[in-house]
Amino acid sequence: MGTARNYVVIDPATGKLDRRIFSDEAIYDAEMEKIFGRAWLMIGHESLVPRPDDFFHTYMGEDPVILTRDGEGRLHALLNMCRHRGNRVCRVDDGNAKRFMCTYHGWTYRNDGALDYVPGEAQAYYDALDKSSLGLIEARVETYAGIVFATWDKDAPSLEAYLGDARWYLDTVFNRRDGGMQALGPMKWLEPVNWKTLVDNCSDNYHVPTSHLSSARVQTRYIGRPPLSHEDQFASPNQHAFVNGHSLTFRDADDNTPRYVHGMSKETIGLFQQYHDATLPEVERRLGALRARRVQLANHSIFPNGILGFRLALPRGPLKTEFWHFVLLERDAPEEIKRAIRTGSQANNGAAGMFEQDDVDNWRQVSLASTSRLGRRHPQDLSMGLGHAGPHPDYPGLVSERYISENNQRLFYKRWEEFMNAESWAQIPLDPITAHFDGTATMRC
Ligand code: FES
Ligand SMILES: [Fe+2]
Repeated sequence: MGTARNYVVIDPATGKLDRRIFSDEAIYDAEMEKIFGRAWLMIGHESLVPRPDDFFHTYMGEDPVILTRDGEGRLHALLNMCRHRGNRVCRVDDGNAKRFMCTYHGWTYRNDGALDYVPGEAQAYYDALDKSSLGLIEARVETYAGIVFATWDKDAPSLEAYLGDARWYLDTVFNRRDGGMQALGPMKWLEPVNWKTLVDNCSDNYHVPTSHLSSARVQTRYIGRPPLSHEDQFASPNQHAFVNGHSLTFRDADDNTPRYVHGMSKETIGLFQQYHDATLPEVERRLGALRARRVQLANHSIFPNGILGFRLALPRGPLKTEFWHFVLLERDAPEEIKRAIRTGSQANNGAAGMFEQDDVDNWRQVSLASTSRLGRRHPQDLSMGLGHAGPHPDYPGLVSERYISENNQRLFYKRWEEFMNAESWAQIPLDPITAHFDGTATMRC
């Protein structure tokens, strides 16, 4: 690490990255404060708490949080910690409850966080307890297209500003239909990897023809997926863009085909094309012609730990990450499409997913390399495509000339530095929103 600032880990001129950031305990502790303590974090989806008094147990970094919908329909993100001695007040993954009772001494909280009942309030506390100051600790909550985000930092910008022009791309998946999306899951599992390795992988298109060669060949043979080669990737007209910490890759499709999703095969492609054609007028009304017809979001991450759509990389220590794999479906899609995506998603990603297993092995080795006494003296090389990215006339953000580039990785670690070196949000730069959001879709619907 450098001396002028606390954290200087990426050299933007050479792309050299200090690999100690993947295993150092002190750095990990600082990340929990400086990144997970102040960024907007994806914590759930409105469809997981559809009715009044529904709740869903989730995490902000390592902190357990209850996402609740109160009796009036308002969302809350509440730290799952009794204000008395700190017992957890909720012990289940989800449910419907007006109140949460701590099972240590019985303090009871409403689902909006207010402390409602204390045994012996008059007798034991002589009516001297200020209940109004002892509600569950509450984070700020905002939603984007049904995805619930929360932040602990009262000075954080709006979620709209935080997502910035990344939303121009994200809308093409998450904000496509009037009926919105529904989330299924999550499937959860632990891996001995640092959380950043998989976020950085979300826009690494370089590894695909190597790491996933055997999985891709199987899919080419059995489900008709197009063959995959380095030559195709290098010549690909697809794009690679970066906004405010969020990494985005996308296809500029000029052939009016549906966006590729897991679940498409030679058997189901007709269904997907039919659905695409039937919904195009609605999507065009919502997103405008360019985004509806041509911009197809591919692999991406939302800073800091949203990976490949609505999936989470929850840190559990420098060398441990808990994966939460959700499937997001367009609520009004036909049942056959939903079934194809559901099964396709499990076959490719998730604990038993063919592609996920290829990836996780890489992330384990990359994380462990930072524990090698000799290895960590030598930085990672992220020099690919240096000097070959800039503004684009049609696409917002910083856009790479090629689909295969390490521009997003360099900028992800630069964003990491910006958060780690800032005293407060006032010192964290944010790109202004400059994209033109054609169509009727908004942050909320
Ligand atoms: S720790 Fe919760 S009531 Fe005592
Ligand atoms: Fe991969």
